[in-house]
Amino acid sequence: MKHFINLKDISASDLRKILKDAKKRKKNRKKFNTMKVDKDNPLNGKLIIQMFEKASSRTRLSFYIAVKQLGGETITIKANELHLGKGGESLADTAKILSTYGDAFLLRTDSDKKIDDFRKNLTIPIVNLLSPSSHPCQVLSDIFTIEEIKKKPVSKLNICWIGDSNNVLNSLIATSVKFRFNLNIGCPRNYRPQKFVLSWVKKNKRKINIFDDPKKAVKNADVLLSDKVVSLNDKVNKKKKIKDFKNYQINLNLMKYAKKDAIFLHCLPRGNEVSDDIFLGKYSRVWQQALNRVDVQKSILLYCFGKLR
Ligand code: CP
Ligand code: NVA
Repeated sequence: MKHFINLKDISASDLRKILKDAKKRKKNRKKFNTMKVDKDNPLNGKLIIQMFEKASSRTRLSFYIAVKQLGGETITIKANELHLGKGGESLADTAKILSTYGDAFLLRTDSDKKIDDFRKNLTIPIVNLLSPSSHPCQVLSDIFTIEEIKKKPVSKLNICWIGDSNNVLNSLIATSVKFRFNLNIGCPRNYRPQKFVLSWVKKNKRKINIFDDPKKAVKNADVLLSDKVVSLNDKVNKKKKIKDFKNYQINLNLMKYAKKDAIFLHCLPRGNEVSDDIFLGKYSRVWQQALNRVDVQKSILLYCFGKLR
């Protein structure tokens, strides 16, 4: 049994195995309807429990479909309906109950500590569906999408992030170390990645390139990514932050600095960090990106159950 919490704690070869499995599975069900179960039915009889302490559209739906395609069952519970928290039940007791009824626990939360506490108390795998420090399912799936579209290993591409230093960027940085690709980041000086993230990169003998000038960051990019300037867990002065990022919008003018065949990805939901003509235009692959989450998350679950082929 394995957990899937943070990409930096998973080996590059395991991450590559997940991507390979996802590619094979996606190919094998090309003509299947959405809810048709994969031939090998690998999660037959298993119950996957999802819990969201904050909003989600894509993660919730894509995991629902992923579990169904693997032949399992899934139930989604809301944090405020549990005894945990307000009802006074301890996390350890809740974890024991989840492990008694369920076969895996998927959690979106505002607390990295809570994920870690569950990890210590569960006897079933836990998957991080987004925490303040990372969004591993999203970013591993994005690597899959990049390689699918570019038909090249990500190590041969220039990846560029324009925007806030948040959970999604932390996971992207982790993959840049694991898969050894060139990562340029364009953001205002006060919003650079946190020190502990940068020192982890250094400890792993890798480098990421950070620019104040977004044009320099975008130069020669094969892929541009961004995310909302104000994240769900941000307790900042929103107006000020949005103003600070006003010169960092991905629009047709900035896109000119990327390679001609560059693509644009965004995890959604979106804000002003991208113009409509980019988000809805010819460079954008955001819908394919969202759909691929189903395929990659299936293989993430199989990794947790030791069932990767
Ligand atoms: N990209 C993403 O995780 O979307 P949701 O917040 O809708 O799940
Ligand atoms: N950085 C965003 C990602 C949403 C999918 C957030 O944490 O709200």
